[in-house]
Amino acid sequence: NTIRLIGISGSLRQASGNTAVLRALKGALPEGVEMTLLPLDGIPLYNQDLDGPQPLAAVGEFKRAIADCDGIVISSPEYNFGMSGVLKNALDWASRPAFASPLKGKPVLIITCSPAFTGGVRAQAQLRETLAGTLSRVIARPPVVIGAIHTKIDNGRLTDDASLQFALAAVDDLAAEIKLLRAQL
Ligand code: FNR
Repeated sequence: NTIRLIGISGSLRQASGNTAVLRALKGALPEGVEMTLLPLDGIPLYNQDLDGPQPLAAVGEFKRAIADCDGIVISSPEYNFGMSGVLKNALDWASRPAFASPLKGKPVLIITCSPAFTGGVRAQAQLRETLAGTLSRVIARPPVVIGAIHTKIDNGRLTDDASLQFALAAVDDLAAEIKLLRAQL
């Protein structure tokens, strides 16, 4: 009955604020909720020639992890007012076959973190739009936007408890949505 989440960071860099937030969440989840981080390092550039029922191994594993989980927590940086290309690329792979992919109906929580005061709020809007295209179920709640992230990280660890609690409340909402969906089945 455990709620199994996957965490996807839109940043590949070692000292990523977004990855730090996901790691902190993973370490602070309530009883009955688990999270596995899925790094995007091994995901190749999207090429429709290579896509199909037997995808490349890394892509197949990524899509299976999405299919098998109860919900997804995405934390993305904002690159030029949008999500990172790394994340968009991975979502494009995961989104196939169109309207019948592992993302269809999947509950998703969006987080963005940025050193800027705006915390990546413009990437939130873009991410929401892209996820709408995949028919995933982005949960309805106020957005989790964390600004000045560079002041809240030390050695790749989130040190700001207020930010952690802010994000944890959203994970609680994601878990509640998953329970609601289970009750309907
Ligand atoms: C950025 N950054 C950035 N920040 C922001 O708030 N709005 C933006 O539009 C951009 N654009 C942008 C483009 C590119 C190419 C880079 C490399 C960076 C800064 C970005 O938020 C910062 O590097 C974050 O720390 C990246 O997230 P991680 O890697 O810490 O998770």
